[in-house]
Amino acid sequence: MQEDLRFFHRLADEITRKEVEEPVVKPIDPKELFNKMDLELDENGTDDEELQELLRQIVLNTPKTTTKKFFNQLFGGRNSKATLGELLAVMLNTSMYTYKVGGVQIGIEKEIIHKVCSLINYPSTADGTLAPGGSMCNFMALLMARDASNRNIKTDGVQQSMTMYTSEESHYSITKNAMFSGLGTAQIRRIATDHKGRMLPGELNAQVHQDIKDGYLPTFVNATAGTTVLGAFDPIDKIAEVAKEHNIWLHVDGAYCGSVIFSDRYKHLVKGLELSDSFCFNAHKMLNTPLSCSILVTKQKHNLKHSFACDANYLYQTDEDEYNPGKTSLQCGRRNDALKFWVLWKSIGSKGLEKMVDQQFHLAEAARDYIRNHEDYTLYSYDDSISVCFNYKDVDPKVICNQLYKKGELMIGYGSYQGEEFVRLVTINSNNENQQIMDFFKVLENFTEKELIAMNV
Ligand SMILES: Cc1ncc(COP(=O)(O)O)c(C=O)c1O
Repeated sequence: MQEDLRFFHRLADEITRKEVEEPVVKPIDPKELFNKMDLELDENGTDDEELQELLRQIVLNTPKTTTKKFFNQLFGGRNSKATLGELLAVMLNTSMYTYKVGGVQIGIEKEIIHKVCSLINYPSTADGTLAPGGSMCNFMALLMARDASNRNIKTDGVQQSMTMYTSEESHYSITKNAMFSGLGTAQIRRIATDHKGRMLPGELNAQVHQDIKDGYLPTFVNATAGTTVLGAFDPIDKIAEVAKEHNIWLHVDGAYCGSVIFSDRYKHLVKGLELSDSFCFNAHKMLNTPLSCSILVTKQKHNLKHSFACDANYLYQTDEDEYNPGKTSLQCGRRNDALKFWVLWKSIGSKGLEKMVDQQFHLAEAARDYIRNHEDYTLYSYDDSISVCFNYKDVDPKVICNQLYKKGELMIGYGSYQGEEFVRLVTINSNNENQQIMDFFKVLENFTEKELIAMNV
């Protein structure tokens, strides 16, 4: 063990050094890379020296998602305190189903859930869990909504046409979850959005009325706090009025930007959140915690228990349900995703989390200002979003993003909204400063001029 830990330490030093020297790994064709790396598993093992060199090569050839040149997805950066917590969780290798096995780690998870519930003004009846990702949190919320609307579904299965409502711009996990839950994708109602990508509550209301008239049972409304492409916030308070009138479960998918709950300046973007029945956010997105760290909370703990509790006497042998969170989780064995977020939160406090969130909006503002002040750019996104969507000199955004990747310059992706395609710059790495955003534009401009426009690509 000691030798492996020493090797890990040396390698971790090399990783952090290389991230500065070479922040983007130049992509190699997958077949070529997989052959080059000796990934084959054999009958006989490999000696330590050879294994260490192979691991070194694997690590150095892995895409770098924590550097200042990674803007590709909705996560990024490396927070050292959260990483410390994650490494400790790996060392301890607990499973978060019982107090007997999890011990104090269960208390750590409970504290996170408790603090989040009180931050969003949920009542004392609220509870939650940590699930493996935002998609799974959304799934759990849908299952609770389904089971709350008909308590016999757990035994009889879905026998009614239950409808679910989500904006055209919502995440594809909502579609997948319709498949998994037995509701079926035909029962999804995709509600139109306004020019800023926000769900139109009037359209939602009209659709619900129509469905009731047609004999459906409206069951689940999903509002998004930070849509995946534009980073738009649905008007939760208005959507809650419709949900309440028809007694429909309201879930808020804050996987991307729900962490605004930590910011005095930006929490207005989730106005009405306390009116929801469930809410989730990913600390592995805006809060720079290692993947994955997703928190789901619900207003009434009994819904969580009703949908997820199941007895197993080979597992639950000591302590009350209160301390055995396997009774309220999707899985059996469950990773400890709480410790890394708790170490981060404990070390910098809620005020520190607020600063991280505010910095991301600040960087997005700096990027939008730059775009507005340079006539070669067209801006597609709006204020109060950390997704900055734009085009440069009418060059195809797909070509810009794919070529920047192929040449190992930057990692950035593209998106589309209402027929327009654009580059999507995500300012989610709160370790970045204005300088990195300006550097981003310089790299993009020089590269596009020299490698695309001049070469006629
Ligand atoms: C709005 C939204 N919801 C859900 C998810 C899914 O989260 P995860 O990747 O943790 O499953 C994402 C991911 O980007 C998202 O943007």
